[in-house]
Amino acid sequence: MRPTKKVTKASRFEILQKDCLEFLKSLPEESVDIIVTDPAYSGMNNKMNFGNGRIVGEYKKGGNEKWFPEFKDEPETFLYFLKLCHRVLKNNRHLYIMFDSFSLLSLGHIVRDVFDVKNLLVWDKVNFGMGHYFRRRHEFILFATKGYRKLNSKSIPDVWRIKRIPRGIYPTQKPVELFDMMLKASSSPGFLVCDPFVGSGSSSIGALKASCDFIGADISLKACRIAKKRADCFLKTGIDIYQKRSALPEDLKKSLQNKLL
Ligand SMILES: C[S@@+](CC[C@H](N)C(=O)[O-])C[C@H]1O[C@@H](n2cnc3c(N)ncnc32)[C@H](O)[C@@H]1O
Repeated sequence: MRPTKKVTKASRFEILQKDCLEFLKSLPEESVDIIVTDPAYSGMNNKMNFGNGRIVGEYKKGGNEKWFPEFKDEPETFLYFLKLCHRVLKNNRHLYIMFDSFSLLSLGHIVRDVFDVKNLLVWDKVNFGMGHYFRRRHEFILFATKGYRKLNSKSIPDVWRIKRIPRGIYPTQKPVELFDMMLKASSSPGFLVCDPFVGSGSSSIGALKASCDFIGADISLKACRIAKKRADCFLKTGIDIYQKRSALPEDLKKSLQNKLL
């Protein structure tokens, strides 16, 4: 992949090893401009009994190597998490939270108790993955506002075709293009982007590409190390060492979606 032409050094860039709730509590009220996040839900893993699938959370002891602990996503904890998000987000700003199908059904409705939910976006991963019945090819991104704020463009569809990362450095690594889309739609240069579940740091690369500042956290030291190394290299060279290829499907490379990226 060609290096990103100009990477503006963020005036603030922090990745902290912290629990998401502790992290959000430590931030001042109304201090961030946008929240883009992809939590580690336990719902899906608890309901599925994968055969040969890659087990990523701590729900299954022994046998498989655990990559990271899961966020305990009981409805009460999730509501508390959302209230903390609301507290740190400035007024008239946007929030994007990713959901798999299981967590969307059990937790997605709770977002309405705290934010104004505006859209449920579909991430079409182009190639399908596991599934005992229909094979899964999509996830959801819930888009909501605190107060009123328009999108930067009126031409963005609610289905985003972006290929999954097949063998990433991190098991749940998301393509940076997902965060590019969120930030193109909702950020301005200099915005402080916040991600309480940073993982391999795809959201932080999106923030740097959009000339934004970034503050994020992950409970896993391994994740924080990966994300920091990735951002350091990106700032020095303009190359994303953990996603070297574009995740856009060929037929979309010249399309509207590409022009937005
Ligand atoms: C789905 S992954 C995020 C992947 C990330 N979007 C990427 O592209 O690499 C969720 C992350 O949440 C972290 N996590 C789990 N429980 C957490 C908690 N209580 N507080 C903060 N992070 C947590 C996990 O370590 C994991 O890295």
